[in-house]
Amino acid sequence: MQAHQPLPVEWSTDATANRRDSYFAASQSKFVPFAEPLVFKKGAMQYLWDADGRKYTDLLGMNVCISVGHCHPRVVDAAMQQAQDLTHCTTMFYHPVPAHFAQELAATMPKGPKGDIEWVVHFTNSGAEAIDLAMTMARTYTGNLDLLALRTGYHGPTAAAQSITGIAGWRHPGMPGNVAFVPEPNQYRGIFGATTQPYLDEIDRVIATATTGRIAGIVIEPVQGYGGVIETPKGYMSGAAERVRAAGGLFIADEVQSGFGRTGDNMWGFEADDVIPDIVVMAKGIGNGFPLGAVVARKQIAAPMAEKFLFHTYGASPTSCAAGRAVLAVIRDEALQQNAKTVGNALLARLKDLQTRHKAIGDVRGRGLMLAIEMVKDRASLEPDKETTAAVFENCRKAGLILSKSGPFQSVLRMVPPLCLSLADVDQVADGLDQAFCALS
Ligand SMILES: Cc1ncc(COP(=O)(O)O)c(C=O)c1O
Repeated sequence: MQAHQPLPVEWSTDATANRRDSYFAASQSKFVPFAEPLVFKKGAMQYLWDADGRKYTDLLGMNVCISVGHCHPRVVDAAMQQAQDLTHCTTMFYHPVPAHFAQELAATMPKGPKGDIEWVVHFTNSGAEAIDLAMTMARTYTGNLDLLALRTGYHGPTAAAQSITGIAGWRHPGMPGNVAFVPEPNQYRGIFGATTQPYLDEIDRVIATATTGRIAGIVIEPVQGYGGVIETPKGYMSGAAERVRAAGGLFIADEVQSGFGRTGDNMWGFEADDVIPDIVVMAKGIGNGFPLGAVVARKQIAAPMAEKFLFHTYGASPTSCAAGRAVLAVIRDEALQQNAKTVGNALLARLKDLQTRHKAIGDVRGRGLMLAIEMVKDRASLEPDKETTAAVFENCRKAGLILSKSGPFQSVLRMVPPLCLSLADVDQVADGLDQAFCALS
């Protein structure tokens, strides 16, 4: 067989931008973040290099997909070795790699006070597919249709995932119904302020008025990602689960952004509260860049799904699952959860210091390596400042930092870097942000 000859690639930024703008559908144009195109050519751990060889620190983690570091050699080797043996094996056949990975993922879940909770795994291609499946699973198990979701939550691009997404800019026509929204317990600008109880009372009210009274479940991101790094306060997830279970429903934790040790204190975001979900959805960081998602559910909740045929073509891809196994091993061996905590605390302190010097920063928040600063025009009225956010975001690029504009008003800069970000990087990030704000005036 003829050896592979790399196909020609034209790397110039202008050529790439022209080609993409000509051939990519318009549906992808709004996602381009910078005024001028940026082409990345290489990545290593927490760093990226553009087509001209300029280095950046990736505080976006390529949209939270890069959990353990760009091109982490152990993850790349694991996937490449598997791809060379058998790149794909459809789920209808048995293969040890996805089977091992399912066991290892299940082992990360809490067993409950009696130690009797059994977890099972259904692999998907993406987070949105996993969300769709979790919604179907909850509806099938409970026999109820109505789902609750949180305003400013984001759960993915498929029609079903959009139907539980509470940010207008991500919702397109044609979404299925049977979804009611409850206010997000945003401690900075939420409609009930910084106390938890009124947000919980509202769940009861919404169940009583905007549903049939019997519900399939509630979907909660333990820390909202695209919503602008909105932490659920202690007592919220457990209180929500209690109310939803009383109405016949399940608690579904969307850990697509907050999982895999990112919050520093725990492997899973829900562990910050005294609650065990019925279904956990994961994706992104699970594969460190290899496409993969998973629904991890209590065994009895997944059981009724055996009645019908359901199949995600690349769901249990041995190549992606080999990468996923390596990700879990690297998180453990390199103590990345602890690193997220240590480095996250140091970065948080520096961000709080920036807040004292730059009045546009209204709020600094987050945990571990899931942090954000929110820009306001006025610290009393909290009017969101989208323009300053966009300007700082552009200036950060000049300072070699890649961040994310997030939140329903695009007034938040979100930081979700690879979990290997170091203390040395913290200085560079804080100084770069400082320069980005100073350059505004
Ligand atoms: C919290 C959350 N859930 C679900 C998804 C959907 O995942 P995917 O983009 O892999 O479909 C995302 C994607 O950003 C997400 O942030």
